[in-house]
Amino acid sequence: MKGQFITLEGVEGVGKSSNLAHIKARLEASGLRVIETREPGGTEMAEEIRALLLRPRSESVSEMAELLLMFAARAQHLYALIQPALDAGHWVLCDRFTDATFAYQGGGRGVPMEWIATLESMVQQTLRPDLTFLLDLPVEIGLDRARKRSDFDRFEAEKVQFFEAVRKVYLQRAAAEPSRFAIIDASPSLEKVQQQIDIMLQQRLGLVVT
Ligand code: TMP
Repeated sequence: MKGQFITLEGVEGVGKSSNLAHIKARLEASGLRVIETREPGGTEMAEEIRALLLRPRSESVSEMAELLLMFAARAQHLYALIQPALDAGHWVLCDRFTDATFAYQGGGRGVPMEWIATLESMVQQTLRPDLTFLLDLPVEIGLDRARKRSDFDRFEAEKVQFFEAVRKVYLQRAAAEPSRFAIIDASPSLEKVQQQIDIMLQQRLGLVVT
């Protein structure tokens, strides 16, 4: 099978990290070579852009600067890591990708979706994820979890309404592209969430989970 590009999305605190590790383990158990990565970030330069984007600062940040930095990091990530990995037949498992830009910059910040779609075509050409897991959870539960773990980054410091708008766009995108998205209810126990993921891995990729 050719290398597939799988992404994981969701509002803060939905359990992306533990579920990413679970998906990676399942893919590897099936004998696939998997590169795990994240956005913004994934390469040395893109991680530097990540630090710029996440650091809380007293200066107010332009929505356009934020949007372009997200795509600058993505362009480098695609060029230096994702595309070469896919070309070599590896599977790429990425913690967030462009759906996050539509959700956070589009939904959260109010940047026009057409601008994001234009940048998406410029930066990615025809590359899109083959499968996207959307971990879905009421915003307040997720934020509570995320904020207990560490100090707020620049996004976590946003208000609940911001994340409500982010979640809404994620759900709209999932409804519009049901063959690419797998919506996972992230509210039950981790074990139950992972059972849902296993079913999707089986249904969408034909992976036999034992
Ligand atoms: P995370 O690694 O904890 O998910 O943090 C990354 C933050 O960056 C998260 O709050 C979502 C945000 N983000 C965007 O706003 N737009 C994007 O395109 C991406 C990839 C992430």
